[in-house]
Amino acid sequence: MSSREEVLGWLLDVQHPAKGDQDVVQLGMVENIELGEGRIKVTLGFPKRPDPLKNYLVGAVQACLYRHAPGGTEIEVDTVVKEPAKPAPKGIQFNLEGLREVRNIIGIASGKGGVGKSTVAVNLAVALARLGYRVGLADADVYGPSVPTMTGTEGIDIAMEGEDENSALFVPTEKYGVKWLSIGHLSPEGQALIWRGPMASTALKQIILQTVWGPLDFLLIDMPPGTGDIHISLIGDVPMTGAIIVTTPQTVALADVLRGVNMFRNPQVNKPILGLVENMAWFTPEAHPDEKYYIFGRDGGTQMAENLDIPFLGQIPLVQGIREGGDSGEPVALSDRPDGKAFMELARKVAEAV
Ligand SMILES: Nc1ncnc2c1ncn2[C@@H]1O[C@H](COP(=O)(O)OP(=O)(O)O)[C@@H](O)[C@H]1O
Ligand SMILES: [Mg+2]
Repeated sequence: MSSREEVLGWLLDVQHPAKGDQDVVQLGMVENIELGEGRIKVTLGFPKRPDPLKNYLVGAVQACLYRHAPGGTEIEVDTVVKEPAKPAPKGIQFNLEGLREVRNIIGIASGKGGVGKSTVAVNLAVALARLGYRVGLADADVYGPSVPTMTGTEGIDIAMEGEDENSALFVPTEKYGVKWLSIGHLSPEGQALIWRGPMASTALKQIILQTVWGPLDFLLIDMPPGTGDIHISLIGDVPMTGAIIVTTPQTVALADVLRGVNMFRNPQVNKPILGLVENMAWFTPEAHPDEKYYIFGRDGGTQMAENLDIPFLGQIPLVQGIREGGDSGEPVALSDRPDGKAFMELARKVAEAV
C-alpha cells in the first residue's frame, strides 16, 4: 500500500496554472488523503469563491494518481469548500531582536542559478572582513546551499543557544573572520533540495531570524535563485537594507536581471538595489594572466545596469582559481592574487554604497 508521503510526493507534479505554477501541495490544497487496500481517496480544498480551474485540477490530480499508483488501484478525488485561512499559528518565535545589532542586511540575488551568486557572496563576505568589517553570511538557498563547501565547513555541528525548542537560537560557525550559517549545515546532504513551499520559506527565515548574529556591520544573505513567492516572503519578513544582483554578461541574462530588479522594486517590498555585479566578465587563462577573452560578450553588465538605472558595482573575471577556491573551501578573496583583488575592490564599492 502506498504511504501518505508517497502520495504527497506524486501530487507535487500537479501545478495550478493560475498560481504561478505552484503545485497543489505547496498551495495547501490537499485537505485529506485516505488510503485503503487498493484504494486512494484525495480531498482537495477550494476557497468559497468559485475557482474556474476546479474541474481541471480534479482531473489533473486523478490523472496523476492513476499514473503513479499501482495498476488496479481505485482512485477517488473529492472536493470541499475551505474556510478562509486563519492567521498562521505562532509556532516559531523569530528573533528580530537578534538582528538589532546588525547594521546592514544585504540580499545577494540572481534571476537564475549558476551565475556565481554564492561565489560572489562568499568572497564578498571574506573581502569585507579583510577590510575590517564585522561580517556574517546566511546561506538561504534552499535549492542548493553551497556555502558549507565553499567555506570548508560541511558537516560541522551548529550549536543552539537556549533550552526551549521553540525559541532556541542557532549559533553560526566562524571561519576566515566571518560568521557563517547555511541551510546546508542543518540538513543531511541533499535533503534541502526537496524542501518546498511553506516549509522552505520557514526554514530559510529561521536561518536569518532565529540566529544569534551579534553585532555585525554586514549580514549578507545568499538568496535562492529566481523570483518566486518564497523570495517575496523572505524580502517581506527580513528587514533588508538592499540587494545586490549578480549576473553574467550575456544578453540573454538581461531578462533575468530585470525580473530580479522588479522583484525588489515590487511595491509590496520596495527595497533599494545597491547594484549589479557582472561575474565571468571575461576569461583569463592561468598561463596567460594578462590576456582577457570576452567569451560571453563585452560590457553586457554595464549596459544592463545603465538600462535599468542601477549602480554598477564591478566585474569579476572567469578564472580557474575562483572555481578552485570554491571547491576547496578556501575562498580566493583570502589571497592577494589578481582574482582575489577583484573581490576586495567589490567590497570597497559595497561599503561605499550603503
Ligand atoms: N568568476 C568565476 N570564475 C570561475 N569559476 C566561477 C566563477 N564564478 C562562479 N564559478 C564557478 O561556477 C560554479 C557555479 O557558481 P555558484 O557560485 O555556485 O553559482 P550560483 O550560486 O549562482 O548557483 C561554481 O563551481 C563556481 O566555483
Ligand atoms: Mg548558489
